[in-house]
Amino acid sequence: MMLDNERANFATKLGIILATAGSAVGLGNVWRFPYMAGQNGGAVFIVIYMLCVLLLGIPCMINEFIIGRHAFANTARAYRTISKSRGWMLIGYMSVLTGFLITGYYAVVSGWCLQYVWASLVGHLHGEPDYYKSYFASFSSDPVKPIFWLVIIMLMTYLIVKNGIRDGIERASKLFMPTLFILLVIIVVASCMLPGAHAGIEFLLKPNWSMINSDVFLSALGQSFYSLSIAMGCICTYASYFSKHTNLANSAIQISVIDSMVAILAGLMIFPAAFSVGVNPDSGPSLIFITLPNVFQQAFGEWPVVGYVISLMFYGLLTLAALTSLMSLVEVSTAFCQEEMKITRKAATLIVVSSATIIGVFCSFSLGAYDGLAFFGLSLFEIFDFVTGQIFLPVVGFLTSVYIGWFAPHKVVRDEFTNWGTLRGTYFHLYLLLVKYICPICIIFIFLHQFGLI
Ligand code: PFF
Repeated sequence: MMLDNERANFATKLGIILATAGSAVGLGNVWRFPYMAGQNGGAVFIVIYMLCVLLLGIPCMINEFIIGRHAFANTARAYRTISKSRGWMLIGYMSVLTGFLITGYYAVVSGWCLQYVWASLVGHLHGEPDYYKSYFASFSSDPVKPIFWLVIIMLMTYLIVKNGIRDGIERASKLFMPTLFILLVIIVVASCMLPGAHAGIEFLLKPNWSMINSDVFLSALGQSFYSLSIAMGCICTYASYFSKHTNLANSAIQISVIDSMVAILAGLMIFPAAFSVGVNPDSGPSLIFITLPNVFQQAFGEWPVVGYVISLMFYGLLTLAALTSLMSLVEVSTAFCQEEMKITRKAATLIVVSSATIIGVFCSFSLGAYDGLAFFGLSLFEIFDFVTGQIFLPVVGFLTSVYIGWFAPHKVVRDEFTNWGTLRGTYFHLYLLLVKYICPICIIFIFLHQFGLI
């Protein structure tokens, strides 16, 4: 049996699952999945989504697990180690860059969550429906406030990540993830008990076959990819801290189940409350920063304390979801800087956090304070989102699948999958089949669909 090497690693299996699930569970689970499910056939969409997770999400996650754990090194070096080639190594660099660029704008929205925790706490989230719209518009375009919260959330991330894998990321995930889950369940119960809540549950879960078309399939494919934090270095970097005994396939399944469960529960938190007060839910930032504060006030406003507490709990859970994803994003570049520049973890975290904060500041400014920061009609914020999410992400995912399926040393892939023959690896051939054919084809479809080409 091989011994774990000297490099830092997660202390427990639970830590591995919670930290990686923490990366996956993020704003995407709350602001995108429920709406997509409700709009696209309810339970049928959920089944399709699970199928996409199974066919694309889990195999792609295992790919990154294999590359990361094989090298016990940051993502850029991990691709170099397994491929021993300069060409494939570039995918590793691209992953790190993608992770870094996402950090900047993801942090801006994470900061907004924190601002809304504050606003709930001091009772600012109160008013007529139009009030929430103008509150968000004036806050997000303010030159100072979003920057203040951006700096605070980045500082929190810094304080966690600088402490390393066990004392920082693992410890925080073990605290944050169960808290997030408890908050989620409490709000789901409260929301489902409201009068008229059943209409929302029906909207989310009622199977409606007539809504299904190729668009729905392709959107579900894209969402499964983003939701599992694939192709951004996070999964690969975390895997480099796994132990040699970690069962990669089982871990990928458990993480995907947690991620999907949180997404479905998020729907059960949002729709029953929205339908009970007759508000049409939407998606994206406007759902969580404009529609939902209004819904919560209207739905629970009769019991003032409940309305206050639910709103606080909601933004608390959103902040935790964003923070655990942010930690994983910062870790990608931190591991890279620490190992490639041979500096201390503290220095590496500081460099990453401060440079990502600078990007965040410009992204935030581009949303209103200095709207001259726009190119081709898109704000800097939207450009970062577009370039990373629509271009880098599918390119990295595609090349990684092609590499593992067709070019990587078969023995290494098999050894990692079966933990050097100590696991049965029943599904190894199925996994390989998916990675060779299904995943690359699916990703090409996602890519073309995004640009309206199919
Ligand atoms: N998976 C996260 C979500 O669903 O919100 C977003 C994300 C986090 C994507 C970290 C990529 C990543 F590296």
